[in-house]
Amino acid sequence: MRSSVVRVSIESRKPAAAISRGLPACPASIPLHQTFRAGNEMKYLSKVVASGEIASDGYFTRACTQLLQSTFGTRKVLLVPSGTAALEMAALLCGLGAGDEVILPSYSFPSTANAVVRTGAKPVFVDVRPDTLNLDERLVEARITSRTKAIFPVHYGGVSCDMDSIMSIARKHGLLVVEDAAQAVNSRHRLRACGSIGHFGAFSFHATKDYTCGEGGALCINTPEMEGRAEILREKGTDRARFLRGDVDKYTWVDIGSSYLPSELTSAYLLAQLEAMDRIKSARQVVYNRYLDLLAPLEERGVLELPKIPAECDGNYHLFYILLRDGASRDCLLTHLKRLGIGAAFHFVPLHLSPMGRRFGYAKGDLPLTEDLSGRLLRLPLYPALKAKQQKAVTQGLNEFFDRPVMGLKRPSQTANIKWELRA
Ligand SMILES: Cc1ncc(COP(=O)(O)O)c(C=O)c1O
Repeated sequence: MRSSVVRVSIESRKPAAAISRGLPACPASIPLHQTFRAGNEMKYLSKVVASGEIASDGYFTRACTQLLQSTFGTRKVLLVPSGTAALEMAALLCGLGAGDEVILPSYSFPSTANAVVRTGAKPVFVDVRPDTLNLDERLVEARITSRTKAIFPVHYGGVSCDMDSIMSIARKHGLLVVEDAAQAVNSRHRLRACGSIGHFGAFSFHATKDYTCGEGGALCINTPEMEGRAEILREKGTDRARFLRGDVDKYTWVDIGSSYLPSELTSAYLLAQLEAMDRIKSARQVVYNRYLDLLAPLEERGVLELPKIPAECDGNYHLFYILLRDGASRDCLLTHLKRLGIGAAFHFVPLHLSPMGRRFGYAKGDLPLTEDLSGRLLRLPLYPALKAKQQKAVTQGLNEFFDRPVMGLKRPSQTANIKWELRA
């Protein structure tokens, strides 16, 4: 069910033209995401196929690992099959279990909370900052109890959380920090790479991410004493990694674990992407800045807000969002852009209001900023190949919407049939 292009289907009983009231009938076909081909993917894949060594931890897995370690200044990186797997391993390495509590934002992908919940620990959701939609570090201390064991900050859209404050709170209370840097590969906070600051960091290389291999991830282990156990968890609870290094003469079952290994085919594709990281980031930055220029007049009119990146953060331009005045405008604009063929999307449904979140006792009104911002946020297409004329078409669509409110759209009946994709 996953796709690098956001799936949209609008089933309406009325013809599109009747609903869009004279808006241009010609759809622009601009998807939300488009995978970037760096150039060497096929060459590296062919090498793996020719070698016949397709399991994990061969040449390409090692090359990706070394590149990530040297670029981000992390002592130890393990390539894993997904960002979800990296978070799961981190939760196990934190030693989480029943009775423990973990502080995290509700505004995230379910994997952040699932990693915690599957250990038996309880997620304690905290509200976000209005400027970045990241965990509000000023609210964290008030939620710490004697049961709190860890904090899982999420760097939304590749813009870092205030890691100085979060790490100093963690040090003061003896807590572990797992950075969910799924969206923040190649982002920095005060020159330190996201993923390398907490005790652990989780990267995602899913097809919707800036650097991808379809499905993939990496765990940064920034706590040297955890490196050995991390290798064991990843290798089905065995000491095979030590055996391969020649440290032991046979390997055996020594701990819990699972199969958290990517194949060499995946790593080969990923290496081509990682080698092009700077090129990809620069191309995304051009697109991001062009939106800022094109949409500034709409912000001046007061009809939307543009994203702000704090000065201490060097983002990776993972996504571009706008904030509408209210949820009704957001939903109508979303439908309007879909009709023009523009792959806009909303983003996370707050986890505390999901069926799982409610099982932990959460209810509407618990996290006011998360609820307000997630209801007004709309993402616009962003990928390296997005052309200036396509961004102008997106801007034109927005201008038309704000110049002439779309009269035929009612909430929620005509927006209810849109199938949302939560990934970024
Ligand atoms: C914040 C966040 N955490 C975790 C994940 C899970 O990553 P993966 O899809 O690689 O398992 C995602 C994926 O979209 C994400 O956005």
